[in-house]
Amino acid sequence: MITRILKIDRSKFHKRDLMEAAAILRAGELVAFPTETVYGLGGNALDASAASRIYEAKGRPSDNPLIVHIAEISALEQIAEDVPEEAYRLAGAFWPGPLTMIFKKSSLIPSATTGGLETVAVRMPSDEIALSLIRESGIFIAAPSANASGRPSTTMAEHVIEDLDGKIAMILDGGPVTMGLESTIIDLSSGKPLILRPGFIAIEQLIQYIPEIEYDKGLFQQIQNEKIIAKAPGMKYRHYAPKGELTIYEGRPEDVTAAIQNMAAEKLLLGEKVGILTSDESMSQYTIGIIKSVGTRKDPAQIASKLFTILREFDYSDVSIILAESFDEDRIGQAIMNRLRKAAGYRIVKVSK
Ligand code: TXA
Ligand code: MG
Repeated sequence: MITRILKIDRSKFHKRDLMEAAAILRAGELVAFPTETVYGLGGNALDASAASRIYEAKGRPSDNPLIVHIAEISALEQIAEDVPEEAYRLAGAFWPGPLTMIFKKSSLIPSATTGGLETVAVRMPSDEIALSLIRESGIFIAAPSANASGRPSTTMAEHVIEDLDGKIAMILDGGPVTMGLESTIIDLSSGKPLILRPGFIAIEQLIQYIPEIEYDKGLFQQIQNEKIIAKAPGMKYRHYAPKGELTIYEGRPEDVTAAIQNMAAEKLLLGEKVGILTSDESMSQYTIGIIKSVGTRKDPAQIASKLFTILREFDYSDVSIILAESFDEDRIGQAIMNRLRKAAGYRIVKVSK
């Protein structure tokens, strides 16, 4: 299949620029498109065969459900059942935006879209291209992150081309996304509201609307054991992984820098090609290896937006080992460390003096 790549100029795009993409989606084929979080790989959420095309293009296990993207709040009544009152309050506060809510699914949604589950995940993205595409196509768009399964999510069209060129009908190139980490996912389908995946919308913000919300306990376990049935099925698979073996170092910043520098020296002697994932603050302390900063610790949003890009850049430099610093875990930091730990397959070294 030849993948058509269409650049969309955000400063002057018109909905007619999306007509072709909308027609492709209505015909059951796939279009990758930007959202404010990461690029999504879209297909018609009501079409079971479009859902199977998504799984096939990504190489994703078909028990891992897809998020349904909508452009109007009224769509909720069509695709979900037993929507609690809190959901409308959360939607009022955070939609359109990086929040995904899980409800009992209606019979309109085929089980292929939800990986066989009786629940459906729903999000209204704020990206103008994404919203216009949903409206122009007149459908609900099922979209996982537009990366090959197991790889870091895609934050620019070039990443999507790397992973999916030749496998899907079209890629809409709207430039780099603004946030760079996927949406916060909350489960409202059972009595107990739970955060299944941290994101830009932090627990401190959610609590104001839904005081009893908690993190899913599975989030903090090392989900390497296949037998653990994680609430979000995607959580049990290896994720976000760069090609090099990634290890995270945790501890006091000066101890971490010293430990990484020592390990880099050791690995270089063994003939490994070593990458170091650092921050602007400590970058100058390293003298060996391929050193890449994800930005300043003073600006976690910047770190979030660069994380997946930097992981892919290590692949381009062909490193066999990546040694990473860790980052503060408040607010967005929760999401940053959640992705980084998964990318490392939970390989973590705790450094003390
Ligand atoms: O920001 C985002 O959410 C991006 C953009 C494209 O919207 N999408 C995204 O989709 O990250 P994906 O498929 O890469 O991650 C969705 C996660 C998976 O871990 C999946 O298992 C979980 O959401 N999920 C989806 N539906 C679910 C459901 N009904 N119950 C539990 N988990 C669900
Ligand atoms: Mg994903």
